[in-house]
Amino acid sequence: MNRRSFLTAGVGLAALALSPEALQAAAANQMAGDWRLGFADIEADIVRAPMRLLHGRPPPGLAGALYRNGSGKIRRPGRSATHWFDGDGLIRAFRIHDGAATLEARFVDTPKRRRDTAADAVITPGFGTSSAPGASIGSPDSANAANISVLPMGEELWALWEAGSPTVMDPQTLATREVKTLRPDLAGMPFLAHPRREPDGRVWNLGVNGDKAVVWRLSSKGALESADVIELPRASYVHDFTATARHLIIVLQPWVQQAMGQSYMDGLSWQPQLGTQVLVLDKADLSKRRLYDLPSFFCFHMGDAWEDGGGEIRFDACIAPDPSFPLQGARNVLLGEETHGSEASRLAMITLKPNGAADLVRTEMVAEFPRSDRRFAGQARRFTVHATGLTPGRPLFDAVAVHDWKRNIAQRFSFGPSQMIEEAVFTARPGSTEEFDGWLLAPTLNLAAGATELHVFDARAVEAGPICAWRGAVALPVGLHGVFVAA
Ligand SMILES: [Fe+2]
Repeated sequence: MNRRSFLTAGVGLAALALSPEALQAAAANQMAGDWRLGFADIEADIVRAPMRLLHGRPPPGLAGALYRNGSGKIRRPGRSATHWFDGDGLIRAFRIHDGAATLEARFVDTPKRRRDTAADAVITPGFGTSSAPGASIGSPDSANAANISVLPMGEELWALWEAGSPTVMDPQTLATREVKTLRPDLAGMPFLAHPRREPDGRVWNLGVNGDKAVVWRLSSKGALESADVIELPRASYVHDFTATARHLIIVLQPWVQQAMGQSYMDGLSWQPQLGTQVLVLDKADLSKRRLYDLPSFFCFHMGDAWEDGGGEIRFDACIAPDPSFPLQGARNVLLGEETHGSEASRLAMITLKPNGAADLVRTEMVAEFPRSDRRFAGQARRFTVHATGLTPGRPLFDAVAVHDWKRNIAQRFSFGPSQMIEEAVFTARPGSTEEFDGWLLAPTLNLAAGATELHVFDARAVEAGPICAWRGAVALPVGLHGVFVAA
C-alpha cells in the first residue's frame, strides 16, 4: 500500500464514525479534488504561458502584473522540509495586458536552494524545519528561503523572507540578481516580509531579532534613508506590524523567543499569561513610545492602521487563541492531514486610546490575509478584503470577503469546496479616487480542474462573483502574499 492509498483508506475508515454532515462534506471533498495539490512540489521553473479566459470580459484599464510568493518545493529524496513555511521561494507572475493574461513561475535562486539541491536533501534549517548534517549557516541569509512575499522597488522586485535580506529579482524575467545589502554594515540583517508603504511610496519595515529590532526607512525607489536599532519590551515572534501616518505599531504577542532551537519555532514559547502588548512608536522620534496591554492572542497579520483627530489609533488584525496553526497545522498539511488549529483566526478591531486604554473587539468572521486600498495606508479607511470560508475536512480557505467597518457588514463570495483561495489583492481603477473603487485580483487553485486560476472582482460588489476569470495550464501550490504592479 503506498502512502496515498494508505491516506485514502484512513479517510474511509474514519468516515464510519462521522456524522451525516461530515459524511456529506467528505463526499463533496472527494468530488472537489484532492486538496493536497495545494501543497505539492514544483520541480522546475514554469515558463510564461497564456491563461484561458473562462468567462466574463476583462475590465478595460486593468493591466499590469500580479507577483506572488510562497513555498514551491518542500520535499527532497534525502530529507524534506517539515513545515509549510520552509519550501523554496517560488515567484509567480500573472500578467494582464489587452484583456489577456499569462502565468509563469520561477524559483528564487538562493544559497539555501543551491545547497539543498546539491545535497538532494533539505539540510538547511528554517522556521519550523531543523537542520541536518551538512548545513552551513554563516549568516541568516544562508537559510534565507525568500519565500513569503514580494516588494516592487523601482526597477527591481524584491523577494522577501523575514529573518534575512531581500533578494533582488528581475521583474520581467524573474531571474535572481543578488542578495540586497542596504548598507554594508547592515548586511544580513533581518527584513520582515510585510513592509508598510505610505501613499507617497516611502517604505517602513522592521527586522526583528529577539528583543531588538531594526527600523528600516526606505525611499520609494529603495534607497536606505535610515536604519535604527530599538529595544523591544519582549522577544515576541513578529511577522507583521502596522502603521498610521505618524506611528509604527508593533504587536507583541506572548509567543516569545526563549532559546535557540533546532528550528526558529522550536525556540519560541507560548505564554498566554503574559497577555499581548502593543508598542506604538513615533515615526519622527523612535524614542517616543507608548505601550498598551490587551488580552492574549496569536496573530500573523494586521491591516493598515489609522488615527482620528483625537489621537485614537485603530487597526484590524486576524487573531487566533494560540499559535496552533504554525505549530501543528502548517506541519500537518505537508503530511496530507487536515490542518486543525484550536480555532481558525477571526477578524478583530483593535483601538488604542490616548488615555492608555486598549480595546479588542472580535468578530465572528473567519479571516486571514487582510489587505486594503494602499492609497489610504495610514489614513482613515473603511474596507478590508480577506480570505474566509472553511471547507470541512480541508485546510485553508474557499471564499473572499470585504468587510465594511463603517457599516460593520461584509460582502462575501464562496468558490465552494473545489477551490482553494489565496490572498486577494486590491488595485485601483485608473483615475479613481474613492476607496475600493477598483478590482480585487484573487488567485485560486481549482482542485477539480487541477489548475491555477485568476479571478477578478469589482471590489465593491464581491457578492456578485467574479466579473471574469482565467485558468492557467498548470497547478501551482497555494502561495502566501503578493503585490499588483499596475502597468
Ligand atoms: Fe505573512
